[in-house]
Amino acid sequence: MTPPHLPGQPQLAYRNNQLWLEDVRLANLAQEYGTPLFVYSRAAMLAALAAYQRGLQGRKALICYAMKANSSLAVLQVFARAGCGFDIVSGGELQRVLAAGGDVKKVIFSGVGKTRQEMQQALIAGIACFNVESEQELEVLNEVAVTLGARAPVSIRVNPNVDPKTHPYISTGLKGSKFGIAHERTVATYQRAAQLKGLRVVGIDCHIGSQITQALPYLDAVDRMLDLVQEIEAAGVPLEHLDFGGGLGIDYNGDQPPAADALWTRLLAKLDARGFGQRQIMIEPGRSLVGNAGVCLTQVLYLKPGEAKNFCIVDAAMNDLPRPAMYQAFHQIVPLSCTAPPVHSTTWEVVGPVCESGDWIGHERELAVQQGDVLAVLSAGAYCMSMASNYNTRGRAAEILVDGDCTFVVRARESAQDCFALERLLPG
Ligand code: LLP
Repeated sequence: MTPPHLPGQPQLAYRNNQLWLEDVRLANLAQEYGTPLFVYSRAAMLAALAAYQRGLQGRKALICYAMKANSSLAVLQVFARAGCGFDIVSGGELQRVLAAGGDVKKVIFSGVGKTRQEMQQALIAGIACFNVESEQELEVLNEVAVTLGARAPVSIRVNPNVDPKTHPYISTGLKGSKFGIAHERTVATYQRAAQLKGLRVVGIDCHIGSQITQALPYLDAVDRMLDLVQEIEAAGVPLEHLDFGGGLGIDYNGDQPPAADALWTRLLAKLDARGFGQRQIMIEPGRSLVGNAGVCLTQVLYLKPGEAKNFCIVDAAMNDLPRPAMYQAFHQIVPLSCTAPPVHSTTWEVVGPVCESGDWIGHERELAVQQGDVLAVLSAGAYCMSMASNYNTRGRAAEILVDGDCTFVVRARESAQDCFALERLLPG
């Protein structure tokens, strides 16, 4: 059987017909730790990071990993040790950065609904910047900072009204999106921010969407941002840093996003041409750093061939892998072994055990499978475990990080008791 095409980094490969991640045979992990099981490659994460580092070499730049993509402490450790900062969206994420030994001075705080308590927590911790998303938020942040006798470093997230040409649920920079401040209100908002005693304006920020597979929306966003920077500075508010957000896509199904280094070479040429090449640059990549560094191993529980459809029921479900149900997302599903199977390949609907028709992992997949086989769901490093739930009282999967031939259990499998540990019975 010809091995299927594997997206992403070379750390995931068939060797002697067996699927390996770095120097670990995935079938061994499934056997030892059970399924569903997330497995991440440290080398693949660092290789993805290196592409950004090459693209930004020689510039004043800070890569703030958007940890919502995968906030497991061990993953954060990998990026913290490699010098990254973090883009957080909650007080909880800030606590994770601290728990993983990240540098709080390299943390930026995004999100449309920061609470006073979260602002206070982040100000006391001493983060690098609040990316403010509304005029009211600006006023509240000022009040919180004044009460603490502090000055909050702020950047305003502008909505550049650029179409990232991606799924509507993950496109964020268009008019009518809840994110950022409208282009037309930007200069006035900066002028207001500059007058507030509890604030220190440090930058400007945008993020246009996620799983972007073309360079053009980025080039447009850079142009629009730089136009705004000129207007804001002409109005008397200087900006130290320019934050271009995240959003770069990965290969799920033959997608061909630009490589991070190639993209940044083009973006920097634009910044240079417009005289902004020496500014401090910040970026907030999430998916492109971790997405293709992870797989989810899942075992085939039952095969149920039928007249209309054939169902391959696996032990991972929408609570583990929510992206297909939420965004009709495609994840490749491949066997752990591609020695000639004793069965013919058939078209399967790969579905989970959750009681919902929307609980599918892959439609119409050509697979030669038998009951008990283990499959790998690919590109599962981003927005899978971090979005996993306990729906149907299913404990969340365990997570393994591999480094060469070493295996680390970085999160234990949740038990049913863990799922209801915080619940209390009624008295009597
Ligand atoms: N910065 C901000 C302000 C963001 O909102 C996001 C993602 C990022 C950075 C990182 O974007 P990335 O580089 O990962 O594309 N759950 C969806 C994706 C939601 C993205 C939300 N914001 C999915 O599974 O496709």
